[in-house]
Amino acid sequence: MMLLNPMMRRHAKALLAVVTALLVVTAILETHESYVNKLKDEFYKEHMTGPQAVINSACVLPRYEPYDPSIMHFIKSWPKIDCGSPQPPLTYVDDKGYLHINKTAVPKLKYPWEKLGCYHYEIIRLKNDDDRIKLGPGKVFFDPERLPHEFSVVRCLEEPRKKLIYETGYAQIKEMPKSLSNKSEAAARNGRVNALIFVFDSMSRLNFIRQLPKTSKFIQERVKGFVMEGLTKVGDNTYPNMLSLLSGFSASRYRNEKALRPFWGNASAPRGYFDDLPALWKNFSQNDYVTMFSEDFPKFTAFNYNAHGFKVPPTDYYMRPFWLAMENQKHRLSKDFRCYGNVPKYKFLLNYVKDFVCKMQKEGHAFFSLTFLTHLSHDHINSIKIIDDELLLFFESLEVLNVFRNSVVIIMGDHGNRFDPIRGTVIGRVEERMPFLAITLPPSLEHFRSSLAANSKILTSWHDVYEMLMDVAFNNLKAVSKVVRYGFKGLSLFRPIPSNRTCLQIGIPREYCVCWVEKELDVNDPKTKKTGETLVRILNEQLHQKDKKKLCTPLQLDSVKNAQKLMPSATVARRDDLSVITRITITVKPSNALLEGTLEAKALRGIYLVGNVNRLNKYGNQSDCVTDPTLALFCFCKRTA
Ligand SMILES: *[C@@H]1O[C@H](CO)[C@@H](O)[C@H](O)[C@H]1NC(C)=O
Ligand SMILES: *[C@@H]1O[C@H](CO)[C@@H](O)[C@H](O)[C@H]1NC(C)=O
Ligand SMILES: *[C@@H]1O[C@H](CO)[C@@H](O)[C@H](O)[C@H]1NC(C)=O
Ligand SMILES: *[C@@H]1O[C@H](CO)[C@@H](O)[C@H](O)[C@H]1NC(C)=O
Ligand SMILES: *[C@@H]1O[C@H](CO)[C@@H](O)[C@H](O)[C@H]1NC(C)=O
Ligand SMILES: *[C@@H]1O[C@H](CO)[C@@H](O)[C@H](O)[C@H]1NC(C)=O
Repeated sequence: MMLLNPMMRRHAKALLAVVTALLVVTAILETHESYVNKLKDEFYKEHMTGPQAVINSACVLPRYEPYDPSIMHFIKSWPKIDCGSPQPPLTYVDDKGYLHINKTAVPKLKYPWEKLGCYHYEIIRLKNDDDRIKLGPGKVFFDPERLPHEFSVVRCLEEPRKKLIYETGYAQIKEMPKSLSNKSEAAARNGRVNALIFVFDSMSRLNFIRQLPKTSKFIQERVKGFVMEGLTKVGDNTYPNMLSLLSGFSASRYRNEKALRPFWGNASAPRGYFDDLPALWKNFSQNDYVTMFSEDFPKFTAFNYNAHGFKVPPTDYYMRPFWLAMENQKHRLSKDFRCYGNVPKYKFLLNYVKDFVCKMQKEGHAFFSLTFLTHLSHDHINSIKIIDDELLLFFESLEVLNVFRNSVVIIMGDHGNRFDPIRGTVIGRVEERMPFLAITLPPSLEHFRSSLAANSKILTSWHDVYEMLMDVAFNNLKAVSKVVRYGFKGLSLFRPIPSNRTCLQIGIPREYCVCWVEKELDVNDPKTKKTGETLVRILNEQLHQKDKKKLCTPLQLDSVKNAQKLMPSATVARRDDLSVITRITITVKPSNALLEGTLEAKALRGIYLVGNVNRLNKYGNQSDCVTDPTLALFCFCKRTA
């Protein structure tokens, strides 16, 4: 044995201590690691046992039939539009665009013809304002006359008393500046393909097929449209979905990265405008197209609901001022909210689109056209069916105008219905996430047919549709693309897309992903009930944090309506960080709110909430006391209790 002097001995002791400590730590770490591994293994084994263990595909799309017996009791007939006769039908426009007095209606008035004075007023959009209009001075109208303005209000008064007896509006396609006209004619001569988009608010694929059988048949059979069966929404309501379709941005990227801050959800914020949005109509303009944007229901349009829209009209043709003027008309309201005076509202929209397309095609301009129909499809799944015949006629008239021969036509919903009672069912939930999307190709793009057909069967999102439209805008229409992508996430639907992509890759949030292998859980199982209680606890924690003034009543679990376990398939499941999702729909007291939450569990993290909680029934005035839109979904104000 070596003799050590005291100094060396002290060093040796210290060294020994360090080595021992290291050994102990390593041992602990090793045990910890094997413990962690054991937990992960157990978690994996516990959950990866069902069908998910053998499915060999990244995404298993749900397959439901439009007429599944389990939802047929939600499909009902709907009252036809009946404007009644709130006022005599005093004026009309003929085929050539001339306004006339309806001479057959005049004798039915209580006043002689000479006592009637009819005037027209220009509808003027206020500068830098998307929400207000004014009327120009009234001009006497001589029958027949071509109205001089793009948008006009027409009124008839009983002269001596100046009593308003009739009021309506007319929208027509104004002349365009020569510079634009020259460019867009050249683009059309060069064979540029047009883009026409028609959006039905809240329209799922299954509901479109169910409610609009004639239109649907026309799209699929007559003009050979592809119906995209894997198209999934990227956000809850209209705004995030339209944003991605039109700009390639996700709502959160737009908010965070661009610092453009549209302040969606905060109408009192000063810069709630979207003029800076890199919307693809700008890219069509940049490529010499004439652009048009028309929407009904001005309160709830994509960029005005909870925001301020555009300071400057975003497109060459922009119908919004017309709708604002029509909303102001309070004279002799029809009892049917679907009418302005004696005319169904949808007619104003369809006629405008038809007139626009007609002018573009006849005069030979390349065009981009975007239309959004809301008031007939937003609230209920059944309400749209009453215009199937008119929609068929409308699309047939576009066919007569050769639209399907020189345009890519997109007919779509932005998302499925979010409030109709069908939303409470398993199929209704899938429908909410999977909007209708049909795409037709002109003969010059036949070479994209096979890719489009293949892509119609796989998972896709609005980011892909954005890429496809940008291809059209930039004439990137050869079999092989010149660019990888214009936006951030998508791939053009014109070309082959790998079938193994995941929701995450294409901007579909976990809570809307439809790729999981689903297993229905027993609502009576105490474990399921416990998950429901966990959701309520998390919601109450959020209330506790956000509701500083303590205006909302704490919630209590009332019942679990249904719950599903969602598992990745074996192809994408990773033992190391397997996550198991439970989607659960509950009702709570005292508000009777129907809430759907998505909870995730991991081997080492326990259970936590992911994404938004959805409110599946309307909250009405329950949450009047709060303004925060996320709080409003589940706050039940104390004063109403
Ligand atoms: C003209 O008035 C008659 C009688 O009220 C009505 O039946 C007809 O539909 C009206 N025509 C137009 C084009 O509005
Ligand atoms: C448009 O084209 C016409 C004829 O080609 C030409 O005379 C005119 O100067 C052009 N106008 C503009 C504004 O480019
Ligand atoms: C909304 O915007 C206003 C004005 O900028 C601001 O004072 C307020 O805090 C914002 N509210 C929310 C909930 O962000
Ligand atoms: C599309 O338009 C936006 C807005 O003008 C612009 O920022 C963007 O660069 C354009 N995209 C391409 C590929 O030119
Ligand atoms: C999909 O398949 C491609 C080619 O086989 C592969 O490179 C890629 O990693 C796969 N992606 C996923 C998410 O599995
Ligand atoms: C809330 O709405 C309900 C039903 O529409 C109505 O009966 C009730 O009086 C309203 N309560 C308040 C406080 O406005």
